[in-house]
Amino acid sequence: MNDRQAHGIAYRRGYAQRIHSVADWVGDLALPQQREIACAVFPMSLATAREQSTGRRASAILKVGRVAYPAHAPRGDPVRRRGHASPIDSYTTAQKTLMKMQSDEAGFRPYAAGYDGVAKFLHWLVVLLIAAQFVIGWTMPDIHKGTRPDGLIAWHLGVGATLIAAVALRIIWRLTHSPAPAEVSPFLRVVSSGTHGLLYLALVAVPVLGWANASSRGWSVKLSGVLPYPAIAPVGSPVAHEMGDIHGYLAWVLFALIVLHVGGALFHRFVLKDRVLQRMLP
Ligand code: HEM
Ligand code: HEM
Repeated sequence: MNDRQAHGIAYRRGYAQRIHSVADWVGDLALPQQREIACAVFPMSLATAREQSTGRRASAILKVGRVAYPAHAPRGDPVRRRGHASPIDSYTTAQKTLMKMQSDEAGFRPYAAGYDGVAKFLHWLVVLLIAAQFVIGWTMPDIHKGTRPDGLIAWHLGVGATLIAAVALRIIWRLTHSPAPAEVSPFLRVVSSGTHGLLYLALVAVPVLGWANASSRGWSVKLSGVLPYPAIAPVGSPVAHEMGDIHGYLAWVLFALIVLHVGGALFHRFVLKDRVLQRMLP
């Protein structure tokens, strides 16, 4: 494929203004063999587009058929000189545009796009609040009939109120947005969406049971100490009293899910070496 043909495709797909030439992309590749292969396989195969979207190294991207090129760019390689950990971050706009075009054509997203700022903010806010709730919940004094909601208990209710609001916003965001799916195997997709679903369930169940228990004790739950939430159980309700115990047990289930989830994130980062973790990093 020559520049003219590339321009033709780019133009048809509406990217014309942003692409200067195919050489912009190919010419920047580290090894002459890579350039050769890039030209030969252009436009890329489905497998290559998939590799791009998982953000593997540039040399891995150019693994074509049974021909593999070194995983590490040689000294003096433009990618290395720019000091980037992952070559995918160092592509020029023209390269990225071209890749986007190719992977769109192949039906793949360019490189797993990730979550938007709102989703990331809410994810990490909820992580902070939950960590605080575990620390407070496990260190606060035992609660008996007639215990006053002071000190750490007041903190547990106060942080809990913010958490309920953050989880509600998060679920609203999730129901109205679908993040680009990560490029992972069908098996991992089932495991990860299963874990995410259970995490969401626990993110609702644990706080709501705590809230019901607080209501049954006649304690009011206030957002920022100002805006009171309604009581969701009658004072003295034996059922809501039981919910306090279930709240404590389910907190352990949530803890186990979080361990699994964080283990999964680290597995992606250090074993599979894909960019799933980066999707949620700021
Ligand atoms: C995911 C968030 C939360 C976590 C991880 C969490 C964790 C805990 C833990 C570990 C305990 C001690 C349980 C025990 O030792 O038996 C506890 C008790 C309690 N939590 Fe939470 N909590 C969360 C959210 C909330 C919220 C949102 C509220 C209310 C607004 C709340 C209200 C309570 C109450 C009232 C108790 C005392 C229950 C009892 O002893 O009967 N919690 N929580
Ligand atoms: C309190 C702890 C945590 C909870 C409750 C939690 C919950 C969740 C949930 C429900 C999702 C699904 C998002 C969606 O698609 O709507 C998610 C995604 C994600 N979380 Fe967490 N998370 C926690 C901690 C962490 C930590 C510590 C890390 C990093 C080590 C992490 C990394 C990620 C990543 C990378 C994703 C995106 C996965 C993907 O692209 O499919 N999470 N988290």
